[in-house]
Amino acid sequence: MLTAEQKNQFEDNGFVVLPGFKSPGELLTLKNRANAIAAAHDFDASKEVFSTSAQRGPQADRVQDYFLESANEVRCFFEEKAFDINGVLKQPLAQSINKIGHAMHDLDPVFSDFSHGGKLAELAEIVGLQEPQIWQSMYIFKQPRIGGQVDWHQDTGFFYTTPQSVTTFWFAVDDATLENGCIWVEPGGHKGPLRQKFIRSGRQTKLIDLDDTPWPETDSAVPVEVKAGTLVCFNGMLPHYSAPNTSGKARHAYTLHVTDEVCVYAPQNWIQRSKDFPVRGFI
Ligand code: FE2
Repeated sequence: MLTAEQKNQFEDNGFVVLPGFKSPGELLTLKNRANAIAAAHDFDASKEVFSTSAQRGPQADRVQDYFLESANEVRCFFEEKAFDINGVLKQPLAQSINKIGHAMHDLDPVFSDFSHGGKLAELAEIVGLQEPQIWQSMYIFKQPRIGGQVDWHQDTGFFYTTPQSVTTFWFAVDDATLENGCIWVEPGGHKGPLRQKFIRSGRQTKLIDLDDTPWPETDSAVPVEVKAGTLVCFNGMLPHYSAPNTSGKARHAYTLHVTDEVCVYAPQNWIQRSKDFPVRGFI
């Protein structure tokens, strides 16, 4: 599955690019399902805007609950730029959704099929996950012209384990280009410190600073332009971000965040599971 060179790339650079990991048919099935979920979204019941920005007040509480409950459900979040100043959508609903999250891989049969199987299990083992646990799935639409930026971060900060184990499986559902907001990574940056951690206490969440090492500048980062069907697998410590989509084409992507059961999953992580909804691996 991985050549010795690819294994070395994963270890040295913190990421490996695997073109053609998913077939056009698998991508189309997933995309159709994502579009159907977005189209069925109850727009009037929840106009929550997905944002990592701090917000306060009753509306913020509602947004926070919607977000927290999404940990173990299938929910849609809007692009921040989806609405005009009067709260009216500037484009059709189907082109206004930022992402679907965060438990489709367990709750939706189509997403479950895409997210499990021997091929992924084999890759997980190669990249060092002894007992994989898939905590989160996200389908990211990165809509034409309004698809927002995702700031520099390390996924470890959201799925903290001791020792670090989170590994990200990032599937390009569309071609990802500079114009439509491909991800950028800092090769080798996974060997640096963890800068921030996102923790939850009851209904409260906060991002705390752990290390003031600056985020990479664009001259030490590289864009990961890939064709649809490519899997980018990366170490959770790898700094990465994606630019806004300034093009007229969507950039759909699907991600799984996976930790190793042999490591201790922090009780402060925002996604937790109960006994009646246990976290599972790739099989
Ligand atoms: Fe990320």
